[in-house]
Amino acid sequence: MLGDILTKDGAKLPPIDLYYLLGHAIGKSREFILAHPEYTMRLRSLITWERMKRRRLRGVPAAYLTGEKEFYGLTFEVNRHTLIPRPETELVVDEVIRRHPRSMLDMGTGSGCIAVAVAHHLPECSVTAVDISRKALAVAARNSMRLLNVKISFIRSDYFIDLPSDRYDIIASNPPYVCEGDVSPEVASQEPALALYGGRDGLHAFRTILGSARDFLMPGGVLVLEISPEVSSAVQEMVDRYGYQLEKLAQDLAGHDRMVVLSPR
Ligand SMILES: C[S@@+](CC[C@H](N)C(=O)[O-])C[C@H]1O[C@@H](n2cnc3c(N)ncnc32)[C@H](O)[C@@H]1O
Repeated sequence: MLGDILTKDGAKLPPIDLYYLLGHAIGKSREFILAHPEYTMRLRSLITWERMKRRRLRGVPAAYLTGEKEFYGLTFEVNRHTLIPRPETELVVDEVIRRHPRSMLDMGTGSGCIAVAVAHHLPECSVTAVDISRKALAVAARNSMRLLNVKISFIRSDYFIDLPSDRYDIIASNPPYVCEGDVSPEVASQEPALALYGGRDGLHAFRTILGSARDFLMPGGVLVLEISPEVSSAVQEMVDRYGYQLEKLAQDLAGHDRMVVLSPR
């Protein structure tokens, strides 16, 4: 019965994982679980639950166990080849939508969360999504097909190297910005190294993007970049050196520097 599982496993997993994963295993909501401790699980659900619980206790993120994650009100497929979309990244999407661009490039699209959320809210915007990882691009393409009526262009490229010489109103990116050697919980999260690490100082992707982006921006175009509080000062120092000006620095709900908007000088 559900009540027995809640008693037995409630001490092992935090409530957020317990209800989310258990709900996924039986196909019911948290409210149902709370209201029906007498519910008897089918054998198949029980096996799914035990397997998920074991893997969660070994550190596999809940989103990789269910294969999905909510972002900007949409449910994205995720797997080990994509970063799990973070709520902080919604700041980037908010900023892009607010500016009503006619075209946007999402550099390092991963699951496609930024590109798909923008295309969902601005169907008239021409959206291009780029990643170096073929496997991430496959996930992003499936998300766009399932969630959108409009088409996104997907391009495999090492940053700007293999891109056609088109220009965009906005280049948005949540680049890999964790310093190599960092041992934060994020790094232990089993997410792809390609999506996390930005070299020894966490700035490799910023150097590459700032170095090339101006050739891909329309006149009046801007870069909308997610940053972390750890790289915020260094990125702000780079802005002038790379020929940009800082239009905006925004904080996330925790008050940490999380996004910059830059325009070429
Ligand atoms: C921090 S993740 C962001 C994923 C997604 N945009 C999000 O916000 O959840 C960075 C992404 O950049 C991609 N990436 C890493 N190096 C790259 C490169 N040289 N060229 C293009 N994309 C790259 C990774 O594969 C990963 O999907």
